[in-house]
Amino acid sequence: AAEIARLLAQPRGADPLAGQPDFAGTVRLQPRASLHGKHILITAGPTHEPIDPVRYIANRSSGKQGFAIAAAAADAGAKVTLVAGPVNLPTPPGVIRIDVESAREMAAAVETALPADAAIMVAAVADWRAAETAAIKIKKDGSGAVPPLALTENPDILATLAASPQRPRLLIGFAAETNDVIAHAQAKLMRKGCDWIIANDVAADPMGGDANRVHLVTATAVDSWE
Ligand code: CTP
Repeated sequence: AAEIARLLAQPRGADPLAGQPDFAGTVRLQPRASLHGKHILITAGPTHEPIDPVRYIANRSSGKQGFAIAAAAADAGAKVTLVAGPVNLPTPPGVIRIDVESAREMAAAVETALPADAAIMVAAVADWRAAETAAIKIKKDGSGAVPPLALTENPDILATLAASPQRPRLLIGFAAETNDVIAHAQAKLMRKGCDWIIANDVAADPMGGDANRVHLVTATAVDSWE
């Protein structure tokens, strides 16, 4: 009771969780609140890159892993901004969610959400988008001719953040690999300039499942989490 009275007596403006939908106006006792006062930025889900109004290019991604990490970070007391591609998942309690469609929208939303203490880039961002987006639906002309589809590269959100003056102190990238998982993750860590890569073996654990095994790859170590 004494602790509750002390917390209630604190000025509300000092609460770093003020303004979050599920925390606003409340005092939440967090026995495991090791991330209290930290802002964690998370991307999740796929991006959709339009070809025409009815078709798009995307990576396979349910968004479950990123949403689970956002829920855990909020539960540990962090202020969490979750930039989500198109997924069919409920927003975890206490998480600020920004919905986007394309990689360029995701990049802009990430930039707007900065600064952050840590960024966890779980999203399966499409590497390429259609060079031109048709304003009306592309139709078959009956001749069997296939329309050409020219691609252009999307911005790399993780690598851009790694090189930015606003780089979070902890920057975590993800990898989904089918082979040579750890070697690819180590190369990706160097190429992207992040601190850790969480590598998923998608040959062993099919995508979209409720459980997975990951390898946490740093510059000096590999820690495999069954
Ligand atoms: N990522 C990103 N922006 C992109 C592409 C990827 O932020 N345009 C991030 C993902 O969120 C993830 C990591 O980078 O954290 C995954 O990188 P990946 O796409 O696997 O790396 P690539 O360099 O494209 O390598 P690969 O040839 O394996 O696709």
